[in-house]
Amino acid sequence: MSQASANLSRDAAVHDAAARSLIEAGDPAADGRALRRCLGQFPTGVTVVTARNGERLVGMAVNSFAAVSLAPPLVLWSIRRESSSAADFLRAGHYAVSVLADDQVELSQLFGSSHPERFERAPWQAGRHGAPLLSGAIAHLECRLEQVHEGGDHLILVGHVERYARHEGAPLLFTQGRYGVAQEHPALAEAAASSEAAIGPNLTDSELLRQLVYASQQLSLDFESHRQALGLTMPMSRLLTRLRQGPCSTAELAHSTYLEQDEVADGLAGLMQQGLLCLRADGLRELSAAGRERQAAIAGSANHYMKDKLDGMAEADIAAFKRVLQALGRD
Ligand SMILES: Cc1cc2nc3c(=O)[nH]c(=O)nc-3n(C[C@H](O)[C@H](O)[C@H](O)COP(=O)(O)O)c2cc1C
Repeated sequence: MSQASANLSRDAAVHDAAARSLIEAGDPAADGRALRRCLGQFPTGVTVVTARNGERLVGMAVNSFAAVSLAPPLVLWSIRRESSSAADFLRAGHYAVSVLADDQVELSQLFGSSHPERFERAPWQAGRHGAPLLSGAIAHLECRLEQVHEGGDHLILVGHVERYARHEGAPLLFTQGRYGVAQEHPALAEAAASSEAAIGPNLTDSELLRQLVYASQQLSLDFESHRQALGLTMPMSRLLTRLRQGPCSTAELAHSTYLEQDEVADGLAGLMQQGLLCLRADGLRELSAAGRERQAAIAGSANHYMKDKLDGMAEADIAAFKRVLQALGRD
């Protein structure tokens, strides 16, 4: 389990449902304001929905906006039946949604009121059917009103998105009756920061494979002291590992160990000198009993070394590493 998910499940365990104290509960019909507070536990973004009905412009702050479908592209929002602009939204036949940015609280307040000069006070541009698109929003959706559903004291206006635009910026949020800004979860942000610090923030995708090769070379160099302690060089240790699988010709050894010809020659000479190899009558090389013993020692040492290296790593990172190796055909 990664550190971040470990933190999350630990937090969840600490604050389980039983431990969270109840604030209020009851019959929605008895206390509408309490129901509204309960619904306010669900966070939303904030939009301003606008329309042009003839010469009349209408617009209001809306947080009931939601995505419905991608194909066809449908969205919805609900308007209070009693709203002074409900009839205009229905007659206009089109509406535009501006998704507010985190620096647009004042616009939300302006369009959340019945201020008569809303459109004089806010910068906007007319969309394709004349509905105002508020400047500075992080997204615009221009919709054809497709269906109107009854929704108690509200009407649900389903729109077919005819055109959209997405702009840079962060969304304004609304929850528990207050405005807020989005922030990455601290536990996840911590994990992202530590992995970025370890790898370097500027590592581009095109450099990943090169970095993988460097990392492998670095690990091999790092392991050198362990080899030396067992009287082996890197080529000798690779040759021993390959010969553990059985007798082998010199050409096959060079091929399977990725060593140069002279490295193979030097390595074989060193192993012969230490009595770790035998040369068979058919010309193949074979491990001696002492060679098998030394190979087991280097394998044990390598296993310890690798275990040490992986010990501090999160399980999710190791799983991702395995997937990458599989994708590269090294599983
Ligand atoms: C953050 C926020 C979200 C709102 N969401 C909605 C909504 O989804 N539907 C709605 O009918 N009114 C909503 N309102 C209220 C309307 O914006 C407000 O009633 C309207 O602008 C006032 O004009 P009216 O009295 O003509 O309706 C919201 C207000 C705010 C501040």
